[in-house]
Amino acid sequence: MSDLSSATAEPACLIEAVNVDKSYKTKREVIRVLDQMSLKILSGEILGIVGASGVGKSTLLHVLGGLDKPLVGSVLFRGKDVYKQSNGYLDNFRNRHIGFVFQFFNLLPDFTALENAMFPAMIRNQERKLAKERAEYLLCEVGMKDRMHHKPSEMSGGESQRVALARGLMNQPDLLLADEPTGNLDRHASDQLLDLIRKLNQEFKQTFVIVTHSQRVAGELDRVMELVGGKVGPIQRDLVI
Ligand SMILES: Nc1ncnc2c1ncn2[C@@H]1O[C@H](COP(=O)(O)OP(=O)(O)O)[C@@H](O)[C@H]1O
Ligand SMILES: [Mg+2]
Repeated sequence: MSDLSSATAEPACLIEAVNVDKSYKTKREVIRVLDQMSLKILSGEILGIVGASGVGKSTLLHVLGGLDKPLVGSVLFRGKDVYKQSNGYLDNFRNRHIGFVFQFFNLLPDFTALENAMFPAMIRNQERKLAKERAEYLLCEVGMKDRMHHKPSEMSGGESQRVALARGLMNQPDLLLADEPTGNLDRHASDQLLDLIRKLNQEFKQTFVIVTHSQRVAGELDRVMELVGGKVGPIQRDLVI
């Protein structure tokens, strides 16, 4: 019986948000974005998050990734509350354990694609030669082999997005949080990117949370949840693209 129970055991929870509240205060109002929001992300899964524009998807990723401390509630990474650890923990958590693909890329304008992709490895003091090799490998994988020495101003939105993905994967994070990573890509580039995500997931058990507006992309993922009314739950409506 014990064999059976271990064979059917649930994958471990990698990161968990528990009863998170997050609001923004402007001069005129308080915008409640996350409201007692709870979410478990399992090790090795590719989770999709959908939801209307302005509902708080980017905010949710920032909170999960240690970039934005919630007012109330906690974010547990392997059981540890990331916002309640000693100095330096969060920087290390973000650099070593989390990869981020921002909705608006956030590439450094004076750096080339290669330097941007290498950046997280430079922060962790990895040897330059090793960092360069991995950045080159990742840039080839995302179809940017011929644009490695271009700066962001010399790249299209889709190219910047792919460089941002390479940068997010640079330090082999446990969890990659990707904010609409195919938003600027055509069908072919988007399929290529999904293939890479699937490959990294299968080969390295890389865990992903992917915010998307695309029904086609959502259909490729292991599990899809919707953010609505400040909470994450099962999808309540047909996805509209
Ligand atoms: N820094 C901020 N200050 C004030 N309001 C913000 C800020 N960031 C986001 N918001 C508001 O919070 C809501 C959720 O934003 P966001 O997480 O970017 O949504 P989504 O990614 O789902 O489009 C929106 O109404 C947005 O206008
Ligand atoms: Mg957003």
